[in-house]
Amino acid sequence: MISQSTIDSVFETARVEEVIGDFVNLKRAGSNFKGLSPFSDERSPSFMVSPAKGIWKDFSTGKGGNSVKFLMEHSQFTYPEAIRYLARKYNIEIEETEQTDAEKAMTDVRESMYLVSEFAKDYFHKTLLNSEEGKAIGLSYFKERGFTNETIKKFSLGYSPETWDALTKEALGKGYKLEFLESTGLTIPREDRPFDRFKGRVMFPIESMSGRVLGFGGRILTNDKKAAKYLNSPESDIYHKSKVLYGIFQAKQAIAKQNNCYLVEGYTDVIQFNQAGIENVVASSGTALTPDQIRLINRLTRNITVLFDGDAAGLRAAIRGIDLILEEGMNVRVCSFPQGEDPDSFARKNSHDDLVAYLEENSKDFIQFKASILMNEAKNDPIKKADLIRDMVTSISKIPDRIQREVYIQECARIMDISEQVLVSTLAQLIQKDIAEANKKQKQEQKPFEVVRNNQPPKNTGFSGGDPDDPRTGPPEGYEEYSGYPQEQQVEKVDILYGFERKIIEILLLYGSVEESFEDVFLKADEEGNIKEVSEKRQYKVYEKIYLSLQEDEVELSNALFQSIYTNIIDFYNQNEIFSLDKYLMHLQPEFAQEVTNILMEDEKVVIHNWEGQNIFPKHKNVTIEQNVSDSIFSLRWFLVSAIIADLKNSLLTDPQDDNSEVLMMVVDYSKLLNNFSKKLGRVVVPYH
Ligand code: CTP
Ligand code: MN
Repeated sequence: MISQSTIDSVFETARVEEVIGDFVNLKRAGSNFKGLSPFSDERSPSFMVSPAKGIWKDFSTGKGGNSVKFLMEHSQFTYPEAIRYLARKYNIEIEETEQTDAEKAMTDVRESMYLVSEFAKDYFHKTLLNSEEGKAIGLSYFKERGFTNETIKKFSLGYSPETWDALTKEALGKGYKLEFLESTGLTIPREDRPFDRFKGRVMFPIESMSGRVLGFGGRILTNDKKAAKYLNSPESDIYHKSKVLYGIFQAKQAIAKQNNCYLVEGYTDVIQFNQAGIENVVASSGTALTPDQIRLINRLTRNITVLFDGDAAGLRAAIRGIDLILEEGMNVRVCSFPQGEDPDSFARKNSHDDLVAYLEENSKDFIQFKASILMNEAKNDPIKKADLIRDMVTSISKIPDRIQREVYIQECARIMDISEQVLVSTLAQLIQKDIAEANKKQKQEQKPFEVVRNNQPPKNTGFSGGDPDDPRTGPPEGYEEYSGYPQEQQVEKVDILYGFERKIIEILLLYGSVEESFEDVFLKADEEGNIKEVSEKRQYKVYEKIYLSLQEDEVELSNALFQSIYTNIIDFYNQNEIFSLDKYLMHLQPEFAQEVTNILMEDEKVVIHNWEGQNIFPKHKNVTIEQNVSDSIFSLRWFLVSAIIADLKNSLLTDPQDDNSEVLMMVVDYSKLLNNFSKKLGRVVVPYH
């Protein structure tokens, strides 16, 4: 583990504009920098970097965060990888925290295995390019397949000589231990003389997402039918065949950027596609696709296009893969190649543009795909047709998302010319349990706060809107003073509660440590023992006031992410005598980064639009912090209490014999409280349920 003090000094040293400047061409714009989004293809800049706040925001995709989050998004680093990258960039020595002896031993073992694999990769690569045998046999083979020097370098292709211990001898001579040569499978142990696993083969290093060498595939050069065409590294502590995808290191940025991943079978398919200018491609390397491999892609995109050879084996593999991909909640398209062609041969024969066009025209969603391969057979055979339909519905039942299932049911009905009703009931049988669970969950999520536009929510001053592309954060109706959104982006339904909860977070971030005097209302007994409501002004830090108020009602924010951010900020305030936003942002957890930057960068959006000479957004009305905080708290409590009332009303028993008096009393009490809030908000509000 990297020590906290190393992490701290990385954060203190890293300048967000320098880190991002290595990848994006940034231009100064006032106190900020702007540039073209690295996450989408755009012509006018919507990517903002704020050196003062140490954060960035991409308005075209909604992504945002600090330096570390940028590296995680852009270069697909994990958190520790990003920290290590920054430490290297700024020459900060990485201090590792104490590990137990067993942990240390395991880390050392793996580290040694990585090192010897890295050495082998370099050795094979050099041998290919520099040795006589390598050039004559390996290099000429690759050239024959049409690989350029650049491609050979990009994938670190290599050659292992036709000598039985070339690598082993070289590695031992350089001080690598036999133990690790053997545990990585590079060397096969034998009492008298250990020997090389890969002999006289061209070598394909298999790398992890972050570019560490895990193992190798070695291809034989002869057409000897008896020898296996490919020999692969055995499973080891660093190489788990079912968890790697060939080419993922070279492909990850392109996959994220294109928001799609082509999945092929072989090493050479990946390489040939890259050479043809299509970089978002990985291979399952001849094994059946596994859930772990799919999840690896899921980190980068939700869209997979399975490409398969135009033969029966390829087809079967593709069909097997589909349901697995659907089960992971991802979208799958399928594209086949003409009989006898695989992605490698097809890419080699066609120009880049033709290849792109072919992929576009021939990629089908899985329903169309299944229909296209089986329809001819099934057309005049009712039994086969029924089987085909059942097969499609089974695939559909794997999709976790209900709406998406429904869309596919419609498509299936249309293509197969059968009523939706029948399909729906078949689907229901298949996933009865799933649907029940999904329904329950959805109900919990959309409590009574979805408000249809034109109803009047309580007005809150200074609502700061949200991401215009995100229907949850758009400005609710009734916030006319905030006119920053073009008409067409207004949404039909808005979640007002979401807005108020977001507002609370915003206030905490911006004014949490400001001291203000707030009106406190509490009950007091006078001399005669009568209980009276008294109000008094008291000094609080804003965060304390918020914390105490929410605690009073024992309310939690309904949005789970906001609740986590809320707890995190409150903890931070409690732990740090002096709150500095900079310091908080430095240590911002990646999972909060997006939302927090969304909230903080709202102001910067004004600047973005100024650059473009378009709408100039009016800033929100200036209200005092005290008023802003009080209003926000009351609004939030108003909504939460309305929800309780609605629930109570729903729980009223309908039989005339039933005694509802207790529930009704509660409704009355809560309604009083609600009125109280309304008074505090200075306006009458009509709840709607
Ligand atoms: N494979 C393997 N062992 C084999 C055959 C295949 O591990 N004996 C894996 C390799 O990862 C290979 C993939 O399955 O890349 C696809 O197999 P195939 O299509 O036969 O190989 P290609 O990659 O097309 O290789 P080439 O074009 O060189 O024949
Ligand atoms: Mn091939």
